[in-house]
Parts: sequence; structure tokens; C-alpha cells
Amino acid sequence: MGDGIDENSRDVTGPLITQNAYGMVLDIGAGHGHTANYLDINRVTKYVALEPNTHMHEEIRKIANKAGNLIRTRGPLSVDTVVCVLSLCTVPSPEETINRISNELLNPGGVFLLYEHVLSPCADVAWWQWFWSPIWSKAFDGCRLDRPTYVWVRKATNWEVDKVWTQEGEPEEHLFWHQIGKFVKATQVILLGEFCIDFFNNYECTIIPGIIAINDFQLYS
Ligand SMILES: C[S@@+](CC[C@H](N)C(=O)[O-])C[C@H]1O[C@@H](n2cnc3c(N)ncnc32)[C@H](O)[C@@H]1O
Repeated sequence: MGDGIDENSRDVTGPLITQNAYGMVLDIGAGHGHTANYLDINRVTKYVALEPNTHMHEEIRKIANKAGNLIRTRGPLSVDTVVCVLSLCTVPSPEETINRISNELLNPGGVFLLYEHVLSPCADVAWWQWFWSPIWSKAFDGCRLDRPTYVWVRKATNWEVDKVWTQEGEPEEHLFWHQIGKFVKATQVILLGEFCIDFFNNYECTIIPGIIAINDFQLYS
């Protein structure tokens, strides 16, 4: 799986991965493991490919061995980079999966990179995505057209960097509307009460409902 996918997406995923992946990299739904081709081996220490389809493993091993680092792992894992290229459309229980990856696997300061086709913001397109998804997912290994996965990632944890953008030239009126995302997990999470949120609204800080993250400050309510 994925040679065609890789050809079509590498202009976006290549630079996204090369410029941002570092340390221990976890590739969710690795397919043939093309992500390994884009890793900067001066910045990446390990590459872990998570792929339930065993028919793809031989190809993953080939590509990863060529790129330099291949690891087989069991047991608990903590990672610096999570890569999701067209895989969150397929994984079961996507919200829970995203939450657990973001909160339990990804280290503070770690980066979550995604390139996914997602639910369109246009109501008419969204309706067709919803309509076709049950049939589409039967034909294509559980893939759904109607998942707002970038929104779920955004909500999953406290991100210091939360950047989502659209593929150049791609119209919103598209059943396969893609979003590209780079999220960096906050190194400090500070939980504050309502009054503190009002107070800090006057200062330069990032506010996520109920949570305020201020880079170098230690504050307690
Ligand atoms: C559309 S392919 C993308 C492959 C690859 N990321 C690429 O860009 O070429 C989706 C992949 O997700 C994998 N997948 C399906 N369910 C999964 C799950 N529960 N956990 C991890 N990967 C899964 C599929 O086997 C498939 O290889």
C-alpha cells in the first residue's frame, strides 16, 4: 500500500517530516514505511513503524534498513515525534487513539505531524462525505471520509504550537480535502481557575479552554 499515496503526497509530507521529525519517531499506519525516506538521520535516533498489515512488513524493513535505523519493539514506548500520513482516517476509535498518543506516548516538547484527508468545512461536501463513508470504509479497510481528525488532535492535549494549514491549490469543495498539521506538546502545563484566565487574558499567552500555558512561568492556582 502506499506507493501511489506517497507519490501524490511527498511534496507535502517530505518537507513536513524532514524539517520537523526528531528523536524517537513513531509512524502510525506506516504502510510501506515511506516516512523513513524523509527522516533526517542527523536528528532522528530511532524509527518505529506501527503497521497492523503484516503483508507490508517486508517493504517497511527494506525501506527502513536503507534509511539507517530499524527497530523492533515491544512494551511501553515514549516518543519525540508522531507521524500520521493518511492513517487517522482508518484507525478504530480515532478520538481515543489520538488522545492516548498525545497524552501517553508523546514526550513533552514532542511533535505531532499529520497529513490527513478530513471532514470538509462546506456543509454540502460534508454531507456527501458522511453519505459515502459507510460504503467507502467497507471497500477501503475502514477508511472514513468524514473525520475532523485535526480538530481532535487540537483538543487532545495542551499544545505549545498548533499549526494547521491547507494544501496549496486544493479547494474546500473536495471529498478528499486535506489538512496538514504540526503540533508541539507543551513542556509545562499549568491548570488555573477561571479568575486566573481573566487575569492572564491581558498578557501574551496561549489559552486553551481551562488551561493556560505560559512558556517559562511556573504558576499555581
Ligand atoms: C492509507 S494507508 C497510509 C500508509 C502510509 N502512511 C503512507 O503514507 O503510505 C493507511 C495505513 O493505516 C494502517 N492501519 C489501519 N488500521 C490501523 C490501526 N488500527 N493502527 C495503525 N495502523 C492502521 C493500514 O494498514 C494502512 O497501511
